[in-house]
Amino acid sequence: MSANTIALNQTMNHFDDHTSLWLFGYGSLIYKADFPYLERKPARIHHWARRFWQGSHDHRGTPQQPGRVVTLVEAPGAVCEGMAYQITPEEFAHLDFREKNGYLRTLTEIEFRDGSQAQGVVYVANRDNAAFLGAASELEIAQHIARCEGPSGNNRDYLLQLAQALRQLDEQDEHVFTIERHLLALTPPGREEDV
Ligand code: SIN
Repeated sequence: MSANTIALNQTMNHFDDHTSLWLFGYGSLIYKADFPYLERKPARIHHWARRFWQGSHDHRGTPQQPGRVVTLVEAPGAVCEGMAYQITPEEFAHLDFREKNGYLRTLTEIEFRDGSQAQGVVYVANRDNAAFLGAASELEIAQHIARCEGPSGNNRDYLLQLAQALRQLDEQDEHVFTIERHLLALTPPGREEDV
C-alpha cells in the first residue's frame, strides 16, 4: 500500500450522506483537535491495543528518519480508551490529509462512558502500510522517539502529550507509560538538547 492514503480514504464514503458521525481518536487526536466538532466525550473501543508501531514521515519525523507514533493492533479482549468527536463528513478532507501517512478510515463500534454505543470511524495504520515499523521493546521505542523530530514538532512531545492526555482520561496504558518512563530517564526535562 502507498504511504499516502488520501485517495484510498476518499473511497471509504460510508458516512458521506450523514449529517454527522463519530470519530474515535486514540493518539494525537485525543489532545490535538484542530478541526471543528459538534461534541466530544471520552469513549473506548474494544479488541484494539494502542502501540507505538507506526512510522511518521510527515509529522514527528522525516522520510529519512521516521518518528514513532501510535496505531492500533488487533487484540481480542483489549480495550482502548480515547476521545470521540461528533463531526460532519466535511471534516474528512482535513483529517485524511492529517492522517495520510498510512492511516485508513476504519469502521468501529464506539462505547461511551454512559454505556451507549455508536458506529463511527477510527484511523488505523495497518501492518501492510509502507510506513509501518512494527514491534520493538519499550526501551528501544523510547530511544527512537528521543532522536526524532518532524514538521509538527519533536517526537518526544507527541509521547509526553499523549501520556498526559491518557492520565487525564484515567487510562492506565502500560505500553505508553513504560515508554514515557524510559524517555524521561534518557532525557530528563530540560536536557532534550543532550540527545
Ligand atoms: C489518532 O490519534 O486517532 C490517530 C493517530 C494519531 O494521529 O496520532
